[in-house]
Amino acid sequence: MATRIFVPSDTTARALGADAVAAAIEREALARKIDLELVRNGSRGLFWLEPLVEVETSAGRVAYGPVRAEDVGGLFEAGLCSGAARHASFQGRPEDIPFLRNQQRLTFSRVGLGDPLSLDNYIELDGFRGLSRALTMAGEDIVRWVTESGLRGRGGAAFPTGIKWRTVLDTPSPLKYVVCNADEGDSGTFADRLVMESDPYMLIEGMIIAGLAVGATQGYIYLRSEYPLAQRVMNEAIERAHAAGYLGEGIRGTSYRFDLEVRLGAGAYICGEETALLESLEGKRGMVRVKPPLPAVKGLFGQPTVVNNVLSLAAVPFILDRGPGAYADSGMGRSRGTLPFQLAGNIARGGLVELAFGATLRELLYDFGGGSRSGRPLRAVQVGGPLGAYLPESQWDTPLDYEAFAAMSAMLGHGGIVAFDDTVDLRQQARFAMEFCAVESCGKCTPCRIGSTRGVEVIDQLDADPEGNRVLLEELCETMTDGSLCAMGGMTPYPVLSALRQFPEDFTADREPCGSREPV
Ligand SMILES: Cc1cc2nc3c(=O)[nH]c(=O)nc-3n(C[C@H](O)[C@H](O)[C@H](O)COP(=O)(O)O)c2cc1C
Ligand code: SF4
Repeated sequence: MATRIFVPSDTTARALGADAVAAAIEREALARKIDLELVRNGSRGLFWLEPLVEVETSAGRVAYGPVRAEDVGGLFEAGLCSGAARHASFQGRPEDIPFLRNQQRLTFSRVGLGDPLSLDNYIELDGFRGLSRALTMAGEDIVRWVTESGLRGRGGAAFPTGIKWRTVLDTPSPLKYVVCNADEGDSGTFADRLVMESDPYMLIEGMIIAGLAVGATQGYIYLRSEYPLAQRVMNEAIERAHAAGYLGEGIRGTSYRFDLEVRLGAGAYICGEETALLESLEGKRGMVRVKPPLPAVKGLFGQPTVVNNVLSLAAVPFILDRGPGAYADSGMGRSRGTLPFQLAGNIARGGLVELAFGATLRELLYDFGGGSRSGRPLRAVQVGGPLGAYLPESQWDTPLDYEAFAAMSAMLGHGGIVAFDDTVDLRQQARFAMEFCAVESCGKCTPCRIGSTRGVEVIDQLDADPEGNRVLLEELCETMTDGSLCAMGGMTPYPVLSALRQFPEDFTADREPCGSREPV
């Protein structure tokens, strides 16, 4: 029997040398006359261990990581094929690694287990069971299940997915669309990419179910142009799903139809905002539209459109397969189910951590993340992308819950968590937030377009008149919050004001300059 070895093929693993490791394993097996079956699986999201090589043994899979191409000879010598524990990179059974064992993987349960493009593998791992059930249900009932699951949009705004779908379902039109927002522009985020590169059929399944639910026959995945591998994987998966009768006319022998295409984004952060995204998808410049009308009523090409994030749509197959209660059972308050958090920045163990709402940042940062990568004390954490607040340690015990975060003028957003050690200069970060807004603003409204540029200037002049300019900065933030058309200008004050209020010592004229602290 061939020895089956798995080497991840996602962008992160590849960036860390997975292709060279795979080639070295093939060479070594050939030289040793070992019958090898090399599987390029998706990543399990334990990025600090990538490339994470796994071997199938009679006692289950055994993992080694991080593996470099030059380690491969030694690995074989140390008994890789039998899962021996003699090599320094030995990690034991992947599911026993605490980082993975302590997660609650509902959406990511299959991610990293097999070849992302193998339909057989997807089906063996319970894929398309949700769709099979949805094909027997009325759209009305699918929408009810999604509503009962408590699923809220994972793109940032946390709007209830069932309510959005109900609006599209109830808006009569001969043509409706499902648009997947795969622009994934938030700093430190990669969960959408991981879904698309490691479990693409899950997203396809979620989109077909959304189409069945609301009566849409055409879907688009609006994919950020910086994800070329995700583009290749998604296109190949769509082709294979089509050939197998899951897409196109007469899905799996029924009278339903659903077509799906990938469209590349325009490379602007604002094109992740749903109405700018729709403009871009229509071939125009990505400018924000005034709401109402909501995209659910008048969206792509003026038709009722579901716009959902990758993670929202990827959660749907589980809900349809296992029932809304199985999803709603996890979580706290009005935040039901799980959120795939993405640990990034200055963190020892970066990667994907899917957890039920209610855990704390401290658990994520230390139990999962292992503290800072630099070895210095952690000082600030930005949660929810570039428009998210900077949180000091006193706020790290707040439960990860949409309402609890909103109560402290913060947000969970898409689950991106970027950690900073004590060398961070929060005044520079506040300036960066304004600068980012000035660069990425679509320019439609004055508080955002002009306000962000004035914001950079005021921060630069803080030392000249600390009290006066601080008041000016607070007033400017208030104007941006109250007067901006969308959350780009409306939420840029979150990182700015949190830095100013939570880390006031970084805003004094005699502050310690950034980078002046001694290394530990
Ligand atoms: C400036 C800005 C950027 C955004 N970027 C993204 C993005 O990259 N991906 C995303 O899914 N949602 C993004 N959103 C949120 C979308 O506008 C929208 O709420 C989301 O796609 C709806 O899907 P959901 O309900 O599944 O979250 C962004 C919003 C704003 C204001
Ligand atoms: S807030 Fe900024 S990004 Fe949003 S519409 Fe106004 S100018 Fe455009």
